[in-house]
Amino acid sequence: MKSKALLGLLADGQFHSGESLASSLGISRTAIWKQIRRASEEGVRIETIRGKGYRLLSDMDLLEAERITQGLTPGCRSRVELTVLDEVDSTNAEIVRRRTRSDSGRIPVCIADCQTAGRGRRGRPWQSPQGQNLYLSLGLTFRGSFAMLDGLSLVLGVAVAEALEQQGVAGVGLKWPNDIFLGGSKLAGILVELQGELEEGVVQVVAGIGLNVHMKEATGVDQSWSSLDIAMPERRWSRSELAASLVNSVLDSVDEFASQGFVGFRSRWQSRDIFSGKALVASQGGLAGNGYGIDDTGNYLIDDGKELVRVRAGEISLRVRP
Ligand code: BTN
Repeated sequence: MKSKALLGLLADGQFHSGESLASSLGISRTAIWKQIRRASEEGVRIETIRGKGYRLLSDMDLLEAERITQGLTPGCRSRVELTVLDEVDSTNAEIVRRRTRSDSGRIPVCIADCQTAGRGRRGRPWQSPQGQNLYLSLGLTFRGSFAMLDGLSLVLGVAVAEALEQQGVAGVGLKWPNDIFLGGSKLAGILVELQGELEEGVVQVVAGIGLNVHMKEATGVDQSWSSLDIAMPERRWSRSELAASLVNSVLDSVDEFASQGFVGFRSRWQSRDIFSGKALVASQGGLAGNGYGIDDTGNYLIDDGKELVRVRAGEISLRVRP
């Protein structure tokens, strides 16, 4: 969005004269007028009153790199390399490209206002309309073997659930392995992809989080979904604040996982398990039984009436598409 800086100035909902906007942005009044016209064409509602100036009528929730950075804890701030984009094919793919080009030694984090080819698990597309939701990816590196990836997938689910709870969202549930549910519908999804050549002892992954924030309608989604605006319409959500909270929580959890393993996450995952005690059928293998929670590595347990059957938490694509 070309007019992002302008909309940032108008975000307070007050009138601003063309002259003051022009001087703040260091451009001409004609350039301001052109940007106002373009933003209006893109659906942003702006009131224009001669002698008073311009006033934003639409409820805009801009993604602002500065605000995201301010919301990071000092420890996280010094460790991440944040990129905020207006548009990208997929933030997961962008992390792969950035890591391939250079390695600053910091954790790359990419957030986009919209994705043109957002991807979900099992090759499904991920709805990524402009200005609506949060599309966020982190490039993480671990020392260890690939076996840790199953646990990581669940750890990220716990991290997202805890970030949402810190933001005041009550009743967040986890659907194995790591879908985030609210009120019986999917609110967020996590895609963990392995990057690079298989090098023993070092595991590089891209962790992508899609969180529905303002979305009220979507076509082509084949499951029941929700958004924060739908679930909590009285709250005014800031995607920048949510993004900072997610990054803080993910990095804290990932540090704990790297140093202590999955042990501290089992009960935190289990307390949010939406399958617990429910009658379940596995999509393959004809397995049926009641949800019994997870074991100490993140496998799901199904009580089939005779024994506890373990289902492996292995829903991870092994290669990142370029
Ligand atoms: C799922 O299917 O539940 C996982 C959805 C993951 C979507 C996120 S949005 C940010 C990142 N970029 C992508 O292309 N996908 C992930």
